[in-house]
Amino acid sequence: MNTIKRMAILTSGGDAPGMNAAIRAATRAALAQGWEVLGVRNGYAGLISGRMVQLGARDVGGIIQNGGTMLGSARSPEFREPAGHAHALACLKERGVDALVVVGGNGTQTGSHSLHEAGIAVAGVPSTIDNDLYGTDVTIGVDTAVNITLEAIDRLRTTGSSHQRGFLVETMGRDCGYIALMAGIAGGAEVIVIPENEVGPHEVAERLQAAYRRGKSHALVVVAEGARQGTDAIVQHIKEHHDSIGFDLRVTRLGHVVRGGSPTARDRVLATRLAAAAVDQLARGVSGVMVGLRGEDIMTTPLAEVAGKTRPADRRLLELARVLAQ
Ligand code: F6P
Repeated sequence: MNTIKRMAILTSGGDAPGMNAAIRAATRAALAQGWEVLGVRNGYAGLISGRMVQLGARDVGGIIQNGGTMLGSARSPEFREPAGHAHALACLKERGVDALVVVGGNGTQTGSHSLHEAGIAVAGVPSTIDNDLYGTDVTIGVDTAVNITLEAIDRLRTTGSSHQRGFLVETMGRDCGYIALMAGIAGGAEVIVIPENEVGPHEVAERLQAAYRRGKSHALVVVAEGARQGTDAIVQHIKEHHDSIGFDLRVTRLGHVVRGGSPTARDRVLATRLAAAAVDQLARGVSGVMVGLRGEDIMTTPLAEVAGKTRPADRRLLELARVLAQ
C-alpha cells in the first residue's frame, strides 16, 4: 500500500505539444487515487522558489487541445547547483509533497533522477520534440513537430514546382535528426541531412544536380539543425557552384514554429497514457523510473539508465529515403 497524500507535477525543459494532456491525465489519475495534487510553476525553477498551485479536476479542463504547458516551463541551471537542489528538496518537504511526476526531456529526467536519489518518490514522463530519450520509442511532442515540418515541406513544394526551384527546410531536433528524417521521408525529400549520418554540401549539390537532370520540377532538402555541415555550409557551397546545379535554392528555417500549436491526436493520446501510467507506478510504490512506450506497450526504465543518455535516429531509413528520391 502506498502512503501518498499529496503529489506534485511539473513540466520542465523545452515545452512540447502534449504537455497539457499529460498534466490533465496525471492530475485526474492522482485525484482518482484520493491524493491532493499540486502543479509546480515553471519547472525546477518553481520547485526552488516554492511556486505551486493546487489542481482540481476542473483546473485541468479544456487544456488537452492546447500546445505548450499551462504550468509554464524553464531551463533551470540553478537546480543543478547543490544549493538549488537543496532548496527544491526543502520546498517539497515544506509543502508536504510525497510524490512527484516530472514531464520533460533529457536534462529534465537527469534532474528527476537526482530527486529520486535524494529520497523523493519520482516518476518521469518523456516529453520533447527531439525524440532522443533513452527508454522509450517515442516522446510526447515529436508527432506534432514532424507533422508541422511536413506541412511546411508540402507548402514549399507548391512554389518549388511552379518556379522549378530547390527549397531547403531546416527543422529542430537539437543533436537528433529524427524530425528531419521522418518529415523528409513523408515529404518525399530529395536529400535529408541529419547529425547521425552527415551528407556533405558537395553531395547535397550533386544530388540536386542529378534531380535537375532527371527532369524534376523541384527539389527539397531537409536539414536537421544539429547537422555539423548544415544549412550555412550547404547554402555557401550552392552559391559557389550555382551555375552547374540547375536549381536555385531558397531557405526556410522553421525554428520554434515546429514546437508550437495544437498537439496531434497521437501526442494527446500518448501523453494521456504515459502520465496516467506514471501515477500508476507511484501508486504501486515504484519510484525512480521513467515510463515509456515500446511498440504499443507501456514500459518502465530506471531513471539511473535514462539520465545523461540519448537515443539517435535510425539512420538505416536514410538509405530508403535516398532510393525513393529517384
Ligand atoms: O529540445 C527541444 C528544442 O526545441 C530543440 O529541438 C532545440 O534545439 C532547443 O529546444 C531550442 O531551445 P530553446 O527553446 O531554449 O531555444
